[in-house]
Amino acid sequence: MGDGTPSEDARAEAVVSLTGVYKVYELGQPVPVLDDLSLTLAEGSYTAIMGPSGSGKSTLLNLIGCLDAPTAGIVEIDGRDVTTLSEDERATVRGEKIGFVFQTFNLLPRLSSLENVALPLVFRGVAREERRDRAAELLERVGLEDRMDHRPTELSGGQRQRVAVARALVNRPTIVLADEPTGSLDSETSGQILDLLDRVHAAGNTVLLVTHERTVAERAERIVHVLDGTVESVEELGGRRTASANDRWT
Ligand SMILES: Nc1ncnc2c1ncn2[C@@H]1O[C@H](COP(=O)(O)OP(=O)(O)OP(=O)(O)O)[C@@H](O)[C@H]1O
Ligand SMILES: [Mg+2]
Repeated sequence: MGDGTPSEDARAEAVVSLTGVYKVYELGQPVPVLDDLSLTLAEGSYTAIMGPSGSGKSTLLNLIGCLDAPTAGIVEIDGRDVTTLSEDERATVRGEKIGFVFQTFNLLPRLSSLENVALPLVFRGVAREERRDRAAELLERVGLEDRMDHRPTELSGGQRQRVAVARALVNRPTIVLADEPTGSLDSETSGQILDLLDRVHAAGNTVLLVTHERTVAERAERIVHVLDGTVESVEELGGRRTASANDRWT
């Protein structure tokens, strides 16, 4: 595992690498979901994943996000095999490196927007004042400066989604995983979220986005098409953007 120093050379290194990954859920009988899937994310790359419902996209994100372990195969984050780690160790990797926007948001119902966004900072021991400032700044960026004290049930679906995006970014993660982050948003709000992800990417971070919409996927540098739990094809969209590590996004 790195010590947080950016890599010296410009060569794109793999920050995420999956090799021959299988995931089988046991529900009385085995339910195979990922089937010999291999995928590499270069440092600073922006990848979109597309594929039919049930093809294993969220399962794949859960493995990369260190929320779950594969049945077989290797998942490496920054060159470290995370499949052999304990749950606590995986949680540490997640907290240090990964920002996750869940398909179902996973906001805590009793907490305000501000508290939900600040929560990952509590686990990292950030002081209260700074937690508030950073959470408020992120909420402003997603256009929710006037909803900081609302609880999730007092927000619209799209607003909840934006809180989830703000929470995923508050730790300044180097790897951002977003599962349908624009799924239930109008086109203007979708655009704001995608602009924010563009900036996260432009700052040198690695972004992986799941979407059903082609126009959203085209914001990425390549599209990985998943079918029946494996990579069906990879579409390179051309390196239209260049990342600069100095371009801070928050
Ligand atoms: N915890 C679980 N236990 C058993 N089966 C599961 C579990 N999680 C997912 N599955 C099954 O795995 C398959 C893939 O699910 P997954 O959520 O990864 O699909 P997805 O590609 O994200 O679909 P969608 O586009 O609808 O979000 C589905 O058939 C689902 O029923
Ligand atoms: Mg899904």
